[in-house]
Amino acid sequence: MGCNNLVKMNFLMFLCVLMLLFNVELMNCSVSYDRKSLLINGQRKIIISGSIHYPRSTPEMWEDLIMKAKKGGLDAIDTYVFWNVHEPSPGNYNFEGRNDLVRFLKIVQKAGLYAHLRLGPYVCAEWNFGGFPVWLKYVPGISFRTDNEPFKRAMQGFTEKVVSLLKSHNLYQSQGGPIILSQIENEYGNLRSHLGQEGYNYMSWAAKMAVSTQTGVPWTMCKDIETPDPVINTCNGFYCHQFTPNRPYKPKLWTEAWSGWFTEFGKSSSQRPVQDLAFAVARFIQAGGSLVNYYMYHGGTNFGRTAGGPFITTSYDYDAPIDEYGLIRQQKYGHLKELHKAIKLCESALVSADPIVTELGPKQQAHVFYPVKGSCAAFLANYDPESGAKVLFNNKHYNLPPWSISILPDCKNVAFNTAKVGEQTSHMVMMPSNANIHQWESYNDLSAVDDSSTMSAFGLLEQINVTRDSTDYLWYKTSVRVKPSESFLHGGKLPTLIVESTGDAVHAFINGQLIGSAFGGRKARRFSFSKKVNLKSGRNKIALLSVAVGLPNVGKHYENWNTGILGPVVLEGLDKGRLDLSKKKWTYQVGLKGESMNLASPNSASIVGWMDSKIVLPKRQPLVWHKAYFDAPEGNEPLGVDMHSMGKGQVWINGVSIGRYWTTVSQGQCNGCSYTGRFQPLKCQVGCGKPSQRWYHVPRAWLKPRRNLLVVFEEMGGDPTKISIKKRSVSTVCAQISEYHPSIKSWKLDTVESYGRTQEFRTRPKLHLQCASNQYISSIKFASFGTPLGTCGRFEQGKCHAPTSNSVIQKRCIGKQRCAVVITNSNFGRDPCPNVLKRLSVEAVCSFRTSTHANQTIIHN
Ligand code: GAL
Repeated sequence: MGCNNLVKMNFLMFLCVLMLLFNVELMNCSVSYDRKSLLINGQRKIIISGSIHYPRSTPEMWEDLIMKAKKGGLDAIDTYVFWNVHEPSPGNYNFEGRNDLVRFLKIVQKAGLYAHLRLGPYVCAEWNFGGFPVWLKYVPGISFRTDNEPFKRAMQGFTEKVVSLLKSHNLYQSQGGPIILSQIENEYGNLRSHLGQEGYNYMSWAAKMAVSTQTGVPWTMCKDIETPDPVINTCNGFYCHQFTPNRPYKPKLWTEAWSGWFTEFGKSSSQRPVQDLAFAVARFIQAGGSLVNYYMYHGGTNFGRTAGGPFITTSYDYDAPIDEYGLIRQQKYGHLKELHKAIKLCESALVSADPIVTELGPKQQAHVFYPVKGSCAAFLANYDPESGAKVLFNNKHYNLPPWSISILPDCKNVAFNTAKVGEQTSHMVMMPSNANIHQWESYNDLSAVDDSSTMSAFGLLEQINVTRDSTDYLWYKTSVRVKPSESFLHGGKLPTLIVESTGDAVHAFINGQLIGSAFGGRKARRFSFSKKVNLKSGRNKIALLSVAVGLPNVGKHYENWNTGILGPVVLEGLDKGRLDLSKKKWTYQVGLKGESMNLASPNSASIVGWMDSKIVLPKRQPLVWHKAYFDAPEGNEPLGVDMHSMGKGQVWINGVSIGRYWTTVSQGQCNGCSYTGRFQPLKCQVGCGKPSQRWYHVPRAWLKPRRNLLVVFEEMGGDPTKISIKKRSVSTVCAQISEYHPSIKSWKLDTVESYGRTQEFRTRPKLHLQCASNQYISSIKFASFGTPLGTCGRFEQGKCHAPTSNSVIQKRCIGKQRCAVVITNSNFGRDPCPNVLKRLSVEAVCSFRTSTHANQTIIHN
C-alpha cells in the first residue's frame, strides 16, 4: 500500500469514526463480500496478507516486522489468537507483554494495514495444545471441538471476551479499526465429517455464535466445505487454485499459503523455493482468487514451553520471507514483493472481470481479464515442470520458463515472471560476538535421588493429569529388592529394564545414575526403553524421568491422548523370570528440584549449592543446572545462543525462558531441490546430519547492557563452557541477472500505465547487491559477465567470461553498503562473446564496520 493509499485509508477510517459518532448510516464502513472479493468501504480489493503471530516475537520487534511486511507489499497482517496465553487459569486474563494483542493490532493500524483475526480459539499452529488452556481439559464433562455444552460455553466465553476487548478499542473496521475479517474454528472439515451429526451441529453453532458477536466484519472458516452462510469457507495449502467456495456468491480466499514448513526436533528443515510459491500465488490469482495470506510471513520463535507437537522445535522460522530473527530473507522477500507489485497493477481488472481462459499449448494457458474495452490484464502460464515454452499471445511470442506464470498488466508487457528471480540471495550466518560468557557455576539437580515426594500411588499415572502441564517433567520412582542369591550377581546375565512410554522422552536412573534415555516421535508417540541393568544386592532405586516435549496440537480428541509412562515397566531376566513393576507403589514428583527452587530466576544467585565450574565442571553429567553471565554484545544485530555443545533441556535469559533446546541430529534426505513440480516439505530438505536446531533466539529486548544471567538446565550432559552468543547477520550476498533478449518481452518499458497507476520498469537489467545496514562490501568472491554456471556459493566461470568482470564490480561496490551495476557490454570493456545471451553473476562478502568508524573499514568477524 503506497503512502497515498495509507493517507486515504486513515482518512476513511477517520470518516467511519465520524459517521459512528454522528450516527450516520454505516454502510460504507462495513466490510462485505461478493463472489469476486471482499468489499471494504464498498470497494472490491485484492488483498495480500501475511501471518505474524504476536507471541512468537517481542513487542519491541512488532513495528519493524509489520513495516517490513508493508514494504514487502502486504495489505494485511493475519494472526491467530492464543487462548492459553490469554487465560492461563479460568477467569484470569493476560493481555500484557508478548500477549498484548491490542497493542499489536494498533501497530498494524498505525502502519495502515488491515488485519485478519483468526480467533480460533482452536488454532493448531504447532502451538502447545493447539491453543487450548490445559485447564480446559479438566472442566467436568468436557469434550473438545464437538457439540458439547461445557466446551461450547467456554469457547463462547473466550470468543466474546476477545471480541468485546477489541470492540472497546475500536479495532474492527466497522469502527474505523484495522480488522476486516475474523476466523472461527480452524480446519474443521475433516473432524466434522469424522464426527458426523455432532460435528455438523457444533460447526453450525460455532458459525452462528461467531456471527452473533456482531463485529461488523465477515467471518471465515478454513477447510470446511459445509461452512454455513454468511461465513466464508476458505482454503489452506501449498496450492489453492482448484479451490471454489461452497456458494457462488462467496469470494475465493486462501487463508494459509504455506511459505515453507515447520521443523521437528530430530528432523531436517524444509525450504520452499520462492519460484514455486510465487507460481502458486499467481495461479490462485489468475483463477479468480482475491485474498492470499502467507502462512507464515514471519514465523518467529516458540518461546518458553509454547511449542506444540510434541517435538516441534523452538524455532518457528518456517522459511518465511522474514526469518525467525526478524531479518529479511532474500530472495524470498524481494521476489514476492515484485509479485505483489505486478498483481496490484492488475487489481482493477482482476476484481471487475472473470478470467477468459484460452489454451496456448498442451500445458500452457492464458487467463485474460477484460473488464472494460481497452483495459486488459493477462496471466500466461506454463504448467510443464520439465520444459520452458514459447507461446503466442495477442500476436506476440513470449518465453515461459518451466512451471511459471508471466503477469502482463496491460496484456502486452511482462511485468513479472514467477520463475525469474531478479533478487539477490543473502546468506545469513551466526557470527561470533564479543559477548564473553563467564563465571560458570553448576548445580546438580538431586531429584533423581531425592525421596521427599509425598505423592504416591499404586500403578502408573498419566503425566498431564499429574503435572497439569505446569512443567515438562514428571518423576516416576519405585524400588526393587534384589536377593543376594540372584545369579546375575554371581557372573550370570544381567537383567533388562523395559519401560513402555506413551510420550515423549524418558531418562532412566538406577540408584541415581543415568543408564540411558529414549524418545518418542511426533506421530508415533509410543516408544520403549530397554537396557541391561547392573543392580546391586538389596534395595535398588529406579527413577524414571518422563519428559513432555510440547502437547499435541492436532488430531481427533487430542485432549484425551496420554503422555508419560503408562507401562508396562518390567525387569526381565531375573531368576524368577519377569518382574512386572507397573502395579507397584510409585512415588511421583512433579518437576525438578531446580524448578521448585526457581533456579532460573535472577534471584537464584543467592541459593546455596551452586558450584564454581572452575573447580568441578560437571561436563557430561545429566540433570545439571548451569549458570553464567554475559554483557550484551555491541551492535544491533539479532542474537542467538549456540547450544551445539549441549544435549537437551531448557534455556533462560534473565529469568525468561527462551525455549526448549535439543541438539539431536536431524534425519532426512537432503538431495537438493528443483523449484518445478508440486512442492511438499520432504522434497526440499536441508540440514541433514546436523542438529535440527543449534541456535536459539535471544531477543535483544530481554538484555541489559551488563551481567545478563544465562541459565541452562541440561537433562543428559554437555559442555556449557562452549556455549556462546552469536550475532545473526549477512555473510555473503549473491546476485545474478540476464541480459535483455530481444525475443523476451520483458525489461523493456520505462513505465506501464495501468488503470490510472504507473509502474516503473527497469530499462536494462541492473544487478543490485546490498549488505546489512551496518555492513559494507569488503571483497568480491566471484564475478563473471558471460555465461557463468552454478548457484550462489558455487558459481563457476562458463565458456564465455569478460576478464574485466572482477575489477569492474570491485570498483563499483567495494567499501559500499549497496551498489548497482547495469548489465551492458560497454560496462565490461567489450562484448566477451557476441551473439550469446550473457549473464552477470556476483558473490560479494559483507563485513561489519563499527558505528564510530563508519567510513573506515574495521572488520569484526
Ligand atoms: C494448518 C493449520 C495451521 C498450521 C499449519 C501447519 O493445517 O491450520 O495452524 O498448523 O497447518 O503449519
